Amino acid sequence: MKKKRATSSLARPPFKFGSKFVILVCAVLFLLAFLRLHFQTTLQSVISFYQASRVFGDDHFKCTPKIAFLFLARRNLPLDFLWGTFLKNVDTSMFSIYVHSEPGFVFNESNTRSAFFYGRQLNNSIQVEWGESSMIEAERLLFEAALDDPANQRFVLLSDSCIPLYSFGYVYSYLTSSSKSFVDSFIDVKENRYSPEMSPVIPKEKWRKGSQWIALIRRHAVIVVDDDFVFPVFRKFCKRWPPADLIKRRQILQAFVFQNGHNCIPDEHYVQTLLKMSGLENELERRTLTYSLWNQSAEAGERRSWHPFRFNHADASPQLIQEIKVINHVYYDSENRKELCHVNITIAPCFLFARKFTPLAAVRLLTERSVDLQDAASVFHAAP
Ligand SMILES: *[C@@H]1O[C@H](CO)[C@@H](O)[C@H](O)[C@H]1NC(C)=O
Ligand SMILES: *[C@@H]1O[C@H](CO)[C@@H](O)[C@H](O)[C@H]1NC(C)=O
Ligand SMILES: *[C@@H]1O[C@H](CO)[C@@H](O)[C@H](O)[C@H]1NC(C)=O
Ligand SMILES: *[C@@H]1O[C@H](CO)[C@@H](O)[C@H](O)[C@H]1NC(C)=O
Repeated sequence: MKKKRATSSLARPPFKFGSKFVILVCAVLFLLAFLRLHFQTTLQSVISFYQASRVFGDDHFKCTPKIAFLFLARRNLPLDFLWGTFLKNVDTSMFSIYVHSEPGFVFNESNTRSAFFYGRQLNNSIQVEWGESSMIEAERLLFEAALDDPANQRFVLLSDSCIPLYSFGYVYSYLTSSSKSFVDSFIDVKENRYSPEMSPVIPKEKWRKGSQWIALIRRHAVIVVDDDFVFPVFRKFCKRWPPADLIKRRQILQAFVFQNGHNCIPDEHYVQTLLKMSGLENELERRTLTYSLWNQSAEAGERRSWHPFRFNHADASPQLIQEIKVINHVYYDSENRKELCHVNITIAPCFLFARKFTPLAAVRLLTERSVDLQDAASVFHAAP
């Protein structure tokens, strides 16, 4: 692990240079195009324009910002057909797809219903234990892979049970109308997940909590991938309690549940805390774009715990989708903060995605057209 990260940080500088270089080339191309339009077209400028585009601006990169959809999957993507509908007819220069699945799992026609996902799995994926730091390692691998394409400008983390609530055009304009990341991030006063052993690397007052489902701007994705400072502390001290192997032996679990205290779920703290520590909270919309309904389970013999409710066929009504879409604020108990949802300066619906949905629920959404995934005219309009 240690070795791998070290390698990747060595590999990073050329890449950073690459992305700045591409931005510079874009700027130069734009300037040349401007000059070409507005001034007498001289032979010289035409020649340099075409030389520049041949060398740097080859056909597949025209400086259109892409949204990178990053899927964290256990195995296959049960809602691939829904995302296939979402992406159908969309210009492929506007998005890219990356999937982290179990090592060796290849997305192909035998297990996937949408060609958009074929071969999009990471080759270097790792075995993920839900609620362990391997989860944030997997997230970092997704961001790292997506950063290799300089056109990727927004990075949306999604689960295998997430659905889009709007058409691609709406999602695209919503995300690109904001220069901020969308990261649910709040002060965690109720729970005892922070461990004093994390100090001094992670000071207690910088500790944050929030939904795992984030959307980052490129600059913040680079910070997450380059982090060699906070991540090792998470791996060492932010651990689920009781650990997975104890859960399997339930009687032991009963005795120890509240003893250790620090039941830390890395993926609900890592990016939030890292960006807070980097002094970037003012570059965030401090909310998630992914709706979930939390419900307390009370399975016999187990500790009561909160879980996102799984919407099945019977639940996935048009009314449900409508109720989610009209939500325009979120309330944070621990900070007594009511967040009116904004995209830049425009008040906006809070959620672009929702989870957890079963495949049958998704079929119902498509057949009843509760989500207008193909509505090309649907665009989010930010205030000028
Ligand atoms: C698809 O990938 C799986 C592994 O995930 C492999 O076993 C199978 O042979 C592949 N099928 C095709 C048609 O390539
Ligand atoms: C996965 O491996 C294939 C073949 O080895 C390579 O072409 C592809 O770029 C790799 N994909 C990623 C995401 O690294
Ligand atoms: C956000 O709003 C400001 C103020 O109106 C504007 O100058 C800026 O261009 C907007 N940002 C984006 C990304 O649209
Ligand atoms: C939440 O869970 C309880 C049982 O733990 C169940 O009775 C209730 O119907 C659930 N609510 C929702 C909205 O799913």
